[in-house]
Amino acid sequence: MTQAVQEFERRTPKCKAAWEHAAALIPGGVGSAIQFKPPYPIYIGDSKGSRVWDLDGNEYIDYSLCYAAMVAGHANPVIAEAIKKQADHGTLYGMPTTLAGDLAEEIMRRYPGVIDMIRFTQSGVECTQTAIRLARAATGRKHIVKIEGSYHGGTDDLLVSTGGAPKDAWGPGDAPASTADSAGLLPSSTDYTTVVQFNDIEHMRAAFDRLDGDVAGVIIEPAMTNGGVIPPQPGYLEAVRALTTEKGSVLIFDEVKVGCRIAEGGATQLYGIKPDLVTLAKAIGGGVPVGAFGGKRELMEMVTPLGPMVHFGTYNANPLGMAAGLACLTKVMTTERYEEMTRLGTKLADGQRKIIADLGIPACVTQVTTLGGILFHPEEPTNFREAARCDAALWDEYWFSMLNKGVIPMGSAWFEEWSISAAHTDEDIDRTLEVTHDVLQAISA
Ligand SMILES: Cc1ncc(COP(=O)(O)O)c(C=O)c1O
Repeated sequence: MTQAVQEFERRTPKCKAAWEHAAALIPGGVGSAIQFKPPYPIYIGDSKGSRVWDLDGNEYIDYSLCYAAMVAGHANPVIAEAIKKQADHGTLYGMPTTLAGDLAEEIMRRYPGVIDMIRFTQSGVECTQTAIRLARAATGRKHIVKIEGSYHGGTDDLLVSTGGAPKDAWGPGDAPASTADSAGLLPSSTDYTTVVQFNDIEHMRAAFDRLDGDVAGVIIEPAMTNGGVIPPQPGYLEAVRALTTEKGSVLIFDEVKVGCRIAEGGATQLYGIKPDLVTLAKAIGGGVPVGAFGGKRELMEMVTPLGPMVHFGTYNANPLGMAAGLACLTKVMTTERYEEMTRLGTKLADGQRKIIADLGIPACVTQVTTLGGILFHPEEPTNFREAARCDAALWDEYWFSMLNKGVIPMGSAWFEEWSISAAHTDEDIDRTLEVTHDVLQAISA
């Protein structure tokens, strides 16, 4: 055990006790495997703004923000008020309210010419799995093309080559294997999900040629958020758009993490590309579980009850989530707010780069507006394989050392990201950079 982990254990006995209790009852003591970080996860007691407190009372500036979901910051008073108000009138009816139409309108305002119609879900994975079903329904084709290392949620067809398999199973760089990333998948998951490298259009074209006109759709994060944050190279998304149009395949932008986050209108606004379908979650729910898929009218008219592609869900468009999402997008996340958050993101990334350069550490920082990441490898990655050159042991040392000084610097693994919320301030960034300097100096000594 490293010194940083020992220090973490010394500071968090109540977290350890909570985990021991939960682990006997719940696999790993967590609700999602990503929350389990050995020796045990931080158990949260409270949160407000840019801060969370663990059960032991330790305070952290939080840049994990529930894997970028908490775009408005924790316990945002405007959102909390909207939730309380709705809770007083009921949380579920199984019958529609006007709130969903209002949130749909706000999202469509942010995605003009891209989202003509939208359907709400409760999570990101439901919208990605439904989007690929819709692509298959619309084209009558079988294959889905995805990017190596991209995570689109825990659904069988997309739990393929997310980076979870051992490196020696990944296959050659120019023809990655479709790896099954969970026990229990049918062979069809890997047979019908083809994997290509991000930022390499020739690779994708070759996959289309191999699949001989049977590609239903391409699902892609326009800026990858597995592997720190990996921006698209100039011209790449345009080329993906042109290829999918040429081949009559549905282009799905998975904007679960970046939608309404890296810009008001997400990646479609930032990069100016129009996909056929967009999947959204995280930011659009204001911290309450909400997802959505939306896009071209002719595709969305295939969704039941208008068309033959089935989509159900007891909790879909539930009033609590709709009220929270509406308050988040219309009252908190204004145009100026995105500009301010992007300024802070750039200040953090520039500050981190300067520290790394001054200390001569073989590391790099990537950033897309309000999201970024530190990888312990000198070259900025253009795809997941390059990102995976990160020294994961050193990254862990960095992460625990930052925790011990009151900062959760990123989600809890090297391939996660840091994110800025509407509640982060210049003082938070200044303090974080001071801590980063001390930590990187110590671990590089
Ligand atoms: C890009 C992307 N798509 C889909 C998902 C799945 O979303 P959820 O965890 O809400 O099911 C995630 C989760 O982090 C994601 O980052």
